[in-house]
Amino acid sequence: MQRTLVLLKPDCVQRRLMGRIISRFEDKGLNIIAMKLMRVTPELSRKHYAEHVDKPFYPSLEEFITSAPVLAMVVEGLEAITVVRDMLGATSGLKAASGTIRGDFSSSRQMNLVHASDGEEAAEREQTLYFGAGELCDYEPVATEFLRAADEG
Ligand code: CMP
Repeated sequence: MQRTLVLLKPDCVQRRLMGRIISRFEDKGLNIIAMKLMRVTPELSRKHYAEHVDKPFYPSLEEFITSAPVLAMVVEGLEAITVVRDMLGATSGLKAASGTIRGDFSSSRQMNLVHASDGEEAAEREQTLYFGAGELCDYEPVATEFLRAADEG
């Protein structure tokens, strides 16, 4: 079982797409165990996007990610890190395949609606940036027995 950090970005909030995107994760059988509507500060942006801070697009990315609230979530499931990244599609909405979230809803490289951790180390780091341990609501969904066989994990 894996946990990953998902952010519905300001474009998703402003375009009133939150419900439709959350539904995709629920429809897939993923389990949302934390959720918070919040503003990303410039300081948090620099920590979250540490690997991009020196890139030419960073100032514009920071302006965008701090421009309106984001919905931060921790999403849990078998192979959740890869499953969620595959559901998002390629970074640019112009390149993302149809059927993926970005492919269906985004036509932008920056305004690509959703962020998700790209590996186990990032998932750990990013969860702690957005949530304290006491904010994770662990529970066993009653539907689990109809989502996968017992020997699948
Ligand atoms: P995300 O998955 O959150 O990771 C880094 C973000 O930077 C990315 O989504 C985009 O929003 C943004 N991004 C990545 N590449 C570019 C780029 N070349 N120009 C502008 N924004 C970018």
